[in-house]
Amino acid sequence: MFAQKHLLDLESYTAAQILEILDTAESFRRVLDRPIPKVPVLRAKTITNLFFEPSTRTRISFELAEKRLSADVVNFSASGSSVAKGETLRDTAENILAMKVDMIVMRHPDSGAARYLSERVPASVINAGDGMHEHPTQGLLDMMTMRQKLGSLEGKKVTIVGDIAHSRVARSNVWGLNKLGARVTVCGPPPMMPLDIESLGCTVEYDFGRAIEDADAVNVLRIQLERQENQIFPGNREYARAYRLDDRMLARTKPGCIIMHPGPMNRDVEISSAVADGDRQVILEQVTNGVAVRMAVLYLLSGGVRESLGQDL
Ligand code: CP
Repeated sequence: MFAQKHLLDLESYTAAQILEILDTAESFRRVLDRPIPKVPVLRAKTITNLFFEPSTRTRISFELAEKRLSADVVNFSASGSSVAKGETLRDTAENILAMKVDMIVMRHPDSGAARYLSERVPASVINAGDGMHEHPTQGLLDMMTMRQKLGSLEGKKVTIVGDIAHSRVARSNVWGLNKLGARVTVCGPPPMMPLDIESLGCTVEYDFGRAIEDADAVNVLRIQLERQENQIFPGNREYARAYRLDDRMLARTKPGCIIMHPGPMNRDVEISSAVADGDRQVILEQVTNGVAVRMAVLYLLSGGVRESLGQDL
């Protein structure tokens, strides 16, 4: 049995648990390539997707994963709900659970919201991104894609470039990649670099060229203007001048280095269109892997066992 009830972060997961999810996801990835990409393993389960923040990829990906596993799915978004009338997160969740829901997938603007919910409701909670804290399924799908392209992550160098301070994707990647033995470098302008980031076990490099020149993978992040309380960065043009991944900078990477982006992309700000559509990027493969990773997480947290998956598939 998988020894976790919730997926709140990758910080509290072991390397063995992360590998268990990634290996299970590979089995589900093969299911997605079948003519009928559906299995009955969560037929008796009801899952609610609670989204208090906008999302395209994560929301659709979770819903597809749930439907591919034959679960019953209920979607909730804060706009148009009783949250607009002042209902608290706890009351909202308890009312949904009173309708006999087994699992909750939640995206929320506040760091720690998923943990708060997990301590107050009996259902399994999966964090689909909480404020500036973590986005664990994004970290997992990024690692799945890197493993497919690079093999074992042990000793590989991964550079994450962008708005590190506001990035839950960066934090989940740093935690997860460290546990799998990769070397992580974070790069971005000083105002976008958290003071304590090295304590997570990564190297800080402010010079973009130096950060990417020996990387096996470069993960490009978006500037999160919506999370900047004060305007800490002068603007897109200054950012692009120093940190945009374009053909000139791509030429400084190793030939086998893959280019990743979690989306949504700001084309020609952090990544040029030529690179975003070029032959080194794996961006849409990340999206496809996201469905498989989320199927694996839902399956394992609901009591599924990878060894018995063969019969169910
Ligand atoms: N990568 C990601 O979280 O994208 P969305 O905000 O569209 O879900």
